[in-house]
Amino acid sequence: MAFAVREATPEDDAMLAAFYRQHWLELGVSEADMAEDWRGEFAAFIAEARQRRGLAGFVLVNAGLAIGSACCHLVERRFPPLLRVEARRIGYVWALFVEPKFRGVGGGATLLNACIGHLQKLGAGRVLLHSGPRSRSLYMRRGFSSTDELGLRLTPQNRLK
Ligand SMILES: CC(C)(COP(=O)(O)OP(=O)(O)OC[C@H]1O[C@@H](n2cnc3c(N)ncnc32)[C@H](O)[C@@H]1OP(=O)(O)O)[C@@H](O)C(=O)NCCC(=O)NCCS
Repeated sequence: MAFAVREATPEDDAMLAAFYRQHWLELGVSEADMAEDWRGEFAAFIAEARQRRGLAGFVLVNAGLAIGSACCHLVERRFPPLLRVEARRIGYVWALFVEPKFRGVGGGATLLNACIGHLQKLGAGRVLLHSGPRSRSLYMRRGFSSTDELGLRLTPQNRLK
């Protein structure tokens, strides 16, 4: 399948938001858990991150139609720089989505590479992302490996009394 990737412009924001929402629904989030003003929240975030965090969106195009997208930006995770090898600039890839009928032919990997290339140009020394259970092999193929970072969700049930 022939597809191309182009960098998104602000005119694409509504489409990026719709793909992002779709990606969450596929990952098991319910409609009820979506912010009521998800379009507005997305637009505000992306405008700020474009200005201050080097955010770029990429659109996957087939026969002139947008069939997927991904976003990436630099994230702040700074600690005292005692280790020489520690990368100071960290990029994050998120919102990777390809329309179901166009999957399995490398579109996701193409979008991922566009994001990695962009973060590389911004000087990132490390790229992070959060994998879903089914997309793990896509990332591993591109050289990602899991870290020992653990997460704790602070819910009403497990908060300290
Ligand atoms: C993940 C996703 C963008 C991959 O798109 P794609 O164009 O099929 O990607 P590629 O053809 O480059 O790679 C295919 C890989 O995608 C992954 N994949 C396949 N079906 C998937 C699905 N329904 N959901 C997530 N990942 C999937 C697998 O790792 C597959 O590789 P494998 O066949 O060796 O197991 C696409 O499946 C998608 O939009 N899924 C729903 C949203 C999502 O899970 N996004 C990632 C969040 S971390």
